[in-house]
Amino acid sequence: PAPGRLAGRHVLVTAGPTHEPIDPVRYIANRSSGRQGFAIAGALAAEGAAVTLIAGPVTLDTPAGVERVDVETAQEMANAVAKTLPADAAVLVAAVADWRTDAAPQKIKKGTGTPTLRLTENPDILTMLATSPHRPRLLIGFAAETDHVIEHATAKRAKKGADWIVANDVSGDVMGGDANTVHIIRAQDVESWEKLPKSQVATRLATRIADTLQETA
Ligand code: C5P
Repeated sequence: PAPGRLAGRHVLVTAGPTHEPIDPVRYIANRSSGRQGFAIAGALAAEGAAVTLIAGPVTLDTPAGVERVDVETAQEMANAVAKTLPADAAVLVAAVADWRTDAAPQKIKKGTGTPTLRLTENPDILTMLATSPHRPRLLIGFAAETDHVIEHATAKRAKKGADWIVANDVSGDVMGGDANTVHIIRAQDVESWEKLPKSQVATRLATRIADTLQETA
């Protein structure tokens, strides 16, 4: 096969949820399936990129040609991302837990009163990359929104210092589903795509990434 337009490029992708332990048997999680991120990693590899996929706990097969690093918590994900740099582009699809709690070393027992969880904010990996001396040339975040999708995602792009935000309309049943309605928010414009299978969102996004990395050499 032809070498692909992303041959020689290193692209970092995060995907899936993170799990924040409460004790050895319990954790805080979210409904991310990891499917959109895994599809993007696969589409980038199919375009010839060297892809490092940093995956939270999911039950998905590793896409062909992708190097996968499994992590559990947000802090582990942040460390794995830092170790993976430098990269030409980064696509942060993971639904990172916003908060963690200090895990109890033993299983918390019932019957001694209702425990209170004290939450601590997790590091924001997207912001960390945006301000890093090794900032990828093309930095792409995702934003799951239920309302005022474009408005909220536009504000998020500016606040986090991403080049693009892929705004994800999750007012339907997207998390875990097979299709996705997205808007690509850039500094200069917004591109709205029709509802597409996650595999097609992935191939279109890989095409746009290849176009952009070629333009800016
Ligand atoms: O603020 P919000 O969580 O909606 O931002 C979503 C974007 O930021 C996604 O690209 C997600 O992967 C990234 N993010 C991150 N680290 C966090 C929280 C979000 O990289 N702790």
